[in-house]
Amino acid sequence: MKKYQILTLSLALIITVIVALTLLQPANAENRKNLPSSEKVKLPEPNLKSNISIEETLLNRRSVRGFSDFPMTLKQVSQLLWAGQGITNPRGFRTAPSAGATFPLELYVVINNVDGVGKGVYKYNPKENEIIKVRDGDMLAELTESALQQTWVKEAAIIIVIAADYERTTGRYGERGIRYVHMEVGHVAQNISLQGVALNLSMTVIGAFRDAEIKKILNMPENENPLYIIPIGNK
Ligand SMILES: Cc1cc2nc3c(=O)[nH]c(=O)nc-3n(C[C@H](O)[C@H](O)[C@H](O)COP(=O)(O)O)c2cc1C
Repeated sequence: MKKYQILTLSLALIITVIVALTLLQPANAENRKNLPSSEKVKLPEPNLKSNISIEETLLNRRSVRGFSDFPMTLKQVSQLLWAGQGITNPRGFRTAPSAGATFPLELYVVINNVDGVGKGVYKYNPKENEIIKVRDGDMLAELTESALQQTWVKEAAIIIVIAADYERTTGRYGERGIRYVHMEVGHVAQNISLQGVALNLSMTVIGAFRDAEIKKILNMPENENPLYIIPIGNK
């Protein structure tokens, strides 16, 4: 083999090693922040008694667009998620009704200002009474932008997002299932709203947002679609 051939081969080998090492390097800090994680947070058991009547919660429910920066507690987060989709029966039935018990809804909670819980996007697992982190980091500015710049959104301590997998219900009821899913979202949002009043929290339900952006920010799988976002915080 000639001298220049050996040189060319050695050079090619060095370049290959450099390229391989670059590709194998761990993601930088910025990317790592956005990688999915499966960190689980066990939720406290929900309270089944309170000092306020159902009638008073109905009387006091109001959309409030603005929050103090006083942090929420994990107990309050747990209570709100339970009100929305908690399992209340050995057969798996929940706090809200579901057409044919097809349970098409998923609850996400974006944590911004909760005592002892890191910022990020979490998914509620009602079976285990836990939330599972699906994304790390502060998503409030992006969410506010995607909610058509409703600026008060970024003051929220948490944002609950109700998403639907239509197939679970249309698989049984065809086109009519779409209507059922939308009815079900209303039930869940109202449960969360009334529970919020009982906890003396402020919130507003939001329907005005760009679906594709919210879906991306929350790392939702392809089959899930965001239907309602609910910013919540202390007065
Ligand atoms: C389907 C739906 C979508 C809504 N979307 C928004 C929204 O994007 N932004 C907002 O500030 N309020 C939104 N709201 C809240 C209404 O503006 C509010 O309920 C209405 O003004 C009546 O006030 P109240 O909730 O205090 O009774 C929405 C309400 C519903 C039912």
